[in-house]
Amino acid sequence: MSGGRSPVAFVATAQPEYARHALAELRQAAGGGRAEPLAEGVFLFQPRGDPEAVRAGLAAQPPVFLRHLHPVHRALALPDLRPEAGAELRSETGADACGSAASGLAPLVEATRDLLAGGRAALLPPGAAVQVQVRRLGLRGGPSAFAVKAALDPVLAAAGFRPVSRDPEWVLSVTLCGAAGEPRAFLGLSTPAENLSPWPGGAIHYPRAAVISRAAFKLMEALELFAPLGFCPRPGDRALDLGAAPGGWTQVLLDRGLRVTAVDPAPLDPRLQDRPGLTFLQGRAGEVPLPPVAFDLLTCDINWHPLETARTVAARAEVLVPGGWALVTVKLLGGGTPTAIWRRVADILAGAGLWLITARQLFHNRDEVTLLLRRAD
Ligand SMILES: C[S@@+](CC[C@H](N)C(=O)[O-])C[C@H]1O[C@@H](n2cnc3c(N)ncnc32)[C@H](O)[C@@H]1O
Repeated sequence: MSGGRSPVAFVATAQPEYARHALAELRQAAGGGRAEPLAEGVFLFQPRGDPEAVRAGLAAQPPVFLRHLHPVHRALALPDLRPEAGAELRSETGADACGSAASGLAPLVEATRDLLAGGRAALLPPGAAVQVQVRRLGLRGGPSAFAVKAALDPVLAAAGFRPVSRDPEWVLSVTLCGAAGEPRAFLGLSTPAENLSPWPGGAIHYPRAAVISRAAFKLMEALELFAPLGFCPRPGDRALDLGAAPGGWTQVLLDRGLRVTAVDPAPLDPRLQDRPGLTFLQGRAGEVPLPPVAFDLLTCDINWHPLETARTVAARAEVLVPGGWALVTVKLLGGGTPTAIWRRVADILAGAGLWLITARQLFHNRDEVTLLLRRAD
């Protein structure tokens, strides 16, 4: 498989339990296609029709369960990938041609040079910030992701681009895969938006020590992933956090400088005691007294039946200012397909004047989907 400006395939990633639904989304966008499993929740997808049409299909019907998608502009075998190569390369300050050859990465370096010499790379302005994002799937040994990046960064620099480790304008995705016996590499050039996520495979890991609860990771991820959609709570904004205990989301919002009213029948973590800007109302979300049109943001992370969540948030929608945002975790419980469940919730919220901006299964969602909504102006 080789390729020029158009991808020849895609590497698609979803949470393994929901991969079937992600593939259905992709097939619908592509008008059909063939999927080869590369690892749990990861597929090599070959569209039946024009690969260029896949992006347009996804833009028309944004996916919810498809977490990440990178194009494949080059696919190659890496027969000489050696288990010891990672250590070898890691010990070097930078990987040179000799290091790449020793690691079995020489074909990958060559394919990258070739990809950057034309095709899609012609769209990149000189000096563009490009991040090499590496995933290793089912490989025993072989170079580490770090070693692969160290081997490819100099190739990017030599082609006139700026290799970066974060906030890229473009991404050079490298998926190394050992699933079919002989190691293979899939290589593609795309923007973070085209990949549906700025992170390799859509996976973002945060340090556990910094947060009160793991639930905080959902909000941290949503704040990053949805920022390009205009979801950027500002210091001084007023937030209502329903189902707040033990306080992970509340802590994240306070740390961003928001004033937070937290509601939960259970107490908050003592570490939040005396935090300026925090009001705690101990009680049920549907029962505590709240003023209307008083909040810029409503968050709800109640571990509930989805219809209960929908009804409670709908009944509280009037607390938001016009144009205010809502971020709601929906448990995929109860009857119907996962898509039918979250759509039903979105319909109920639309009836209360909360319009759906996007729905995504975040990396940190388990059997859940996160909805981002706005109150009608
Ligand atoms: C998944 S936890 C929330 C975690 C929280 N977002 C965090 O970051 O720490 C769900 C919370 O919903 C609360 N809850 C359950 N029923 C509720 C209700 N009717 N009103 C408000 N909170 C409720 C539970 O007490 C529990 O603390």
